[in-house]
Amino acid sequence: MAGLASVLDRPGPPLWLLAELTYRCPLHCVFCYNPVDFARHEQELSTADWLRVLREGRELGAVQCGFSGGEPLLRDDLEELVAEARRLGYYTNLLTSGVGLTAARAAALKAAGLDHVQLSFQDSTKEINDFLSHTRTYDLKQRVAKMIRDQGWPMVMNVVIHRLNIEHVDRIIAMAAELGAEYLELANTQYYSWAEVNRAHLLPTHDQLKRAEAVTDAWRERLAGKMKLFFVAPDYHEGQPKRCVNGWGSTFLNIAPDGTALPCHTAGMLPGLSFPNVREASLREIWFDSPGFNRFRGTGWMKDPCRSCEHRERDLGGCRCQAYMLSKDVDAADPVCSKSPHHHLVQEAVADAERRAAAGEPPAQPIVFRDRASSLKLTTCR
Ligand code: FES
Repeated sequence: MAGLASVLDRPGPPLWLLAELTYRCPLHCVFCYNPVDFARHEQELSTADWLRVLREGRELGAVQCGFSGGEPLLRDDLEELVAEARRLGYYTNLLTSGVGLTAARAAALKAAGLDHVQLSFQDSTKEINDFLSHTRTYDLKQRVAKMIRDQGWPMVMNVVIHRLNIEHVDRIIAMAAELGAEYLELANTQYYSWAEVNRAHLLPTHDQLKRAEAVTDAWRERLAGKMKLFFVAPDYHEGQPKRCVNGWGSTFLNIAPDGTALPCHTAGMLPGLSFPNVREASLREIWFDSPGFNRFRGTGWMKDPCRSCEHRERDLGGCRCQAYMLSKDVDAADPVCSKSPHHHLVQEAVADAERRAAAGEPPAQPIVFRDRASSLKLTTCR
């Protein structure tokens, strides 16, 4: 075991570089994973900065480059960045709501060498899709799905699953099949950022999850060989922590719109840690030498129950952001783990969802849409 731990402590290259080009977004999704304080970080890297980041990432050994946001199509230089990423030899993908994609832009991105587009839907119904994103985007997404097919990109669809759409999983899969999707990711909500703010509205019951999983399994058999279905397990109901971002500082390098380099989307909220900006340091210095990226590498930082746990190399203590959000201790075991002294916090949240479902009782607080005003308000109050 000591040998394995030392391998985990020694970082390899960041295989996956995620370029979060902007926090601007025409949608206002209630489960958005962008930081709740995004409105306080509106500055964006220039095209020249991003081109340098792409080059440095490739020199470090990154092989996949994702362009996300916010809505990355709001950046006019997206085609230029994709072309450079492709020239450097990355496998490139675009994570988009579809807003801003026209047939001309799709053709330009294809010509630039974009390998793959992941299109998000909020639901199979127009009513819930448009409610959850607080925009009228359902019809547009159907048109964008056709543009993706027309360009010959693999049709990859992503739908975040939660209490407000989980009963629609059957129709969501049927819609993906009708649109010609080759992959569908049913991503059960993880309670970070805006989803954490809205957790009482989004957390499903155990029975709802079991039914959704059974429906997915039935479709998986029916669609074998035509469409791949991924049902991303919800850790609140599992009792086992996930190996978040495949291990802190092991694989994933996230560059926020303002140039802050992060080991995950939300690490910027962790107290006592600082993360460098690509304007001030090279990616090599950031990845190998910065205290923020080294803070939770491997297993040396752990305390009990993680330190003496037989699963410590498997899950690496779970998610640091979730540990902090729930326990206010960045070094604690992830409270979704049944061995965590804070596990009761997760159990209480699930029990509250079960109780309210049985009573037909809505959450006391209103749902909060992701927008600038809410971002400023929430980060002043907190
Ligand atoms: Fe930050 Fe899991 S989301 S470590």
